Amino acid sequence: MVRCLAFLISLAAATNLYATHYNGNIYTLSLDGKNSLSISSSLKTCGDAPSWLTFDSSARTLYCSDHSGNGTKNGSLSSYSVNRDGKLTELAKTVDVGSAVHSTIYGGKHGREKYLAIAHYGGSALSTFALPLSSDKEALQVFRYQMSQPGIKPQQDAPHPHQVILDPTGDFLLVPDLGADQVRVYAIDQHSGRLNVCPSLNYTAGSGPRHGLFWKSNSLDSAQTPVTMLYTVSELGGHFNALLVSYLSSGCLGFRETQSFVPYPGGQLPTGAVPAELAMAGTSLYVSIRFDQGFPPNDSVSTLARSSNGTVTFNEITSSYGAIPRTFSINKKGTLVAIGDQASSNVAIVIRDPQSGNLGNLVANLEVGQPGQASNSSTGLSSIIWGE
Ligand SMILES: *[C@@H]1O[C@H](CO)[C@@H](O)[C@H](O)[C@H]1NC(C)=O
Ligand SMILES: *[C@@H]1O[C@H](CO)[C@@H](O)[C@H](O)[C@H]1NC(C)=O
Ligand SMILES: *[C@@H]1O[C@H](CO)[C@@H](O)[C@H](O)[C@H]1NC(C)=O
Ligand SMILES: *[C@@H]1O[C@H](CO)[C@@H](O)[C@H](O)[C@H]1NC(C)=O
Ligand SMILES: *[C@@H]1O[C@H](CO)[C@@H](O)[C@H](O)[C@H]1NC(C)=O
Ligand SMILES: *[C@@H]1O[C@H](CO)[C@@H](O)[C@H](O)[C@H]1NC(C)=O
Repeated sequence: MVRCLAFLISLAAATNLYATHYNGNIYTLSLDGKNSLSISSSLKTCGDAPSWLTFDSSARTLYCSDHSGNGTKNGSLSSYSVNRDGKLTELAKTVDVGSAVHSTIYGGKHGREKYLAIAHYGGSALSTFALPLSSDKEALQVFRYQMSQPGIKPQQDAPHPHQVILDPTGDFLLVPDLGADQVRVYAIDQHSGRLNVCPSLNYTAGSGPRHGLFWKSNSLDSAQTPVTMLYTVSELGGHFNALLVSYLSSGCLGFRETQSFVPYPGGQLPTGAVPAELAMAGTSLYVSIRFDQGFPPNDSVSTLARSSNGTVTFNEITSSYGAIPRTFSINKKGTLVAIGDQASSNVAIVIRDPQSGNLGNLVANLEVGQPGQASNSSTGLSSIIWGE
């Protein structure tokens, strides 16, 4: 009886994580208790190059984007049901623009339909689909981007949308475009899920905005004027930017930059080092830094502190516990961070102090699939999320 109870408790305590690898698999990882991380299942799926997962926890549905293809050669988009032990069953697979790297769910207001928006890096496009996905369903909209001339950095040969961000009102989608030095802005028509083009937020040439997120101050805090901020990291220029967001009567967004700095000790990145992922929990922001070798043979995660008025200051760097931390994800409780290191192809679970926001020791570490090559961004572990 006691053993049986202990077994049930340990089952309840297991948390699932999902990782994509460019070897063509989605892995389900299980974190038992505090520090035992293992692969509980894997599925060969999601085209040739699974790159990103978005989890709809209320529907227990996972969406996988496929990095294969480009602007002319299509890729795929797949959905999966997730059972209690984290096993995946493919629900649908359809054709999408190629070279997808990120997706976000939007819509669903007042019981309306939900939609998925997908950023296509090499496909130079944004596509949207009505949910639930079904096999052979066609995109609701596809926006294909062009540039009259290449940008100033070698990576800026074409537009390269890298992410889709939903604003706190749920009425706008933002798409950082690393190639075009802008964050594209769309107003959502909640009745049809269709997107209307708004003026872009423009960056200095060569910035290469990659990822971003919104923060809205608590309107109950009467000491402060309520603010909505957009924070972004730029891969090519290496900057963290803070922008004050305003909701304009035109139905679009206005932005005013309040801060721009390099989130690294001394305000300068080592040669070749580039920011990648950005996340927030409590009053802290985190930026993964690839290729800095801050903790050899590992790279770094940079921790920033946000004050109640939205101003952000650099705090410290800590080890990413692997090479090339392309993505990382914070659990709901804010007590653990899962870092997906691409080249070393490991998932490192690091303690986070929910009070201070500081990252602490490595508590679990697991190699997932074969290591990638630092020189080839189409190899290794591509993403990690918590299945919460
Ligand atoms: C797209 O991919 C196809 C197949 O790999 C290739 O033949 C084609 O040259 C690529 N197009 C571009 C614009 O890179
Ligand atoms: C890509 O997919 C779209 C939509 O399904 C289709 O119209 C188009 O013909 C496809 N392109 C290629 C090259 O297969
Ligand atoms: C950004 O630049 C584009 C032209 O490239 C322009 O249409 C747009 O209005 C600009 N955005 C803002 C907010 O000024
Ligand atoms: C915001 O808060 C920080 C830290 O409390 C303070 O140093 C800064 O002056 C404030 N900025 C503004 C614009 O009020
Ligand atoms: C680098 O990461 C590995 C885990 O991948 C860890 O065992 C090692 O202690 C780390 N070293 C440093 C200096 O961070
Ligand atoms: C990078 O890796 C991919 C996937 O294994 C492979 O298809 C491609 O040829 C490699 N590129 C280079 C330049 O080695």
